[in-house]
Amino acid sequence: MGRLHNKVAIITGAASSMGLAAVKLFTQEGAKVVATDIAFEQLQTVTAGMENVLCLTLDVTSEEQWNKVVADAKSAFGKVDILINNAGVSFHKTLLEETLEGWNRTVNLNLTSVFLGLQSVIPAMQENGGGSIVNCVSLAAVIGSADNGAAAYAAAKGGVRALSKHAAVNFAKDNIRVNSVYPGAILTGAAERHGVTDRAVLGKAFEGIIPLPPFAGEALDIANGYLYLASDESKFVTGEELIIDGGWSSK
Ligand SMILES: NC(=O)c1ccc[n+]([C@@H]2O[C@H](COP(=O)([O-])OP(=O)(O)OC[C@H]3O[C@@H](n4cnc5c(N)ncnc54)[C@H](O)[C@@H]3O)[C@@H](O)[C@H]2O)c1
Repeated sequence: MGRLHNKVAIITGAASSMGLAAVKLFTQEGAKVVATDIAFEQLQTVTAGMENVLCLTLDVTSEEQWNKVVADAKSAFGKVDILINNAGVSFHKTLLEETLEGWNRTVNLNLTSVFLGLQSVIPAMQENGGGSIVNCVSLAAVIGSADNGAAAYAAAKGGVRALSKHAAVNFAKDNIRVNSVYPGAILTGAAERHGVTDRAVLGKAFEGIIPLPPFAGEALDIANGYLYLASDESKFVTGEELIIDGGWSSK
């Protein structure tokens, strides 16, 4: 029996990288997955042929779309057990470069999105007798040297860190757990957009900074963290921060 047997999971940013790795892993472990992304056509293409996957459009900054996704998940699969708030984007603007418009866009996409997700999913989990929420934060919320060029992103992810702990404490009474995963340097679409498509090349840039070879992670490393925190194996774990960074933050 799979580690997510009989569970229904909503995953955001599921059309690529960590989100897509989680869709694959969760279905292999027996979950029914509501895979969502703003890039709907890409999502349909990359999940084509996968069983137990329902693809839905979700711009995580839209309250209306969040409510529709939760309603559609319940009508398709009867309940929601798991939410993986994976979607997030860094625009790499330093504190002095950032504009108010850019600040608001980054905070909206990385922090307000998680607030909207929690608001729409928690009532469904309360009805269901509990659930597990996993928020993707970043090492940028913990150490100032991670993603130096992204002031608004670091601040927004710091907000997700605080919101996760707030929700963990306030909804424990409903048997709803809220934990966070903190990726370090991981080869994903984000690195690829900056021209780095090879894990060895990304690792080379982090040699001397990250202790553990190959000095850069892959999407599956993060999806495995999501899996542990989503599953009942972590049933007494809430408000926790799982850092997956090859030892970077321990230096
Ligand atoms: N890659 C890293 O090294 C790293 C490090 C720390 C944290 N993270 C975090 O990991 C998470 C996943 O990022 P990734 O590196 O896999 O990035 P990615 O760019 O490969 O994937 C992000 C996905 O989010 C989707 N997306 C973008 N805007 C959206 C929106 N408004 N609504 C819904 N979906 C939207 C994209 O279409 C894409 O499929 C993010 O929260 C990111 O901040 C990544």
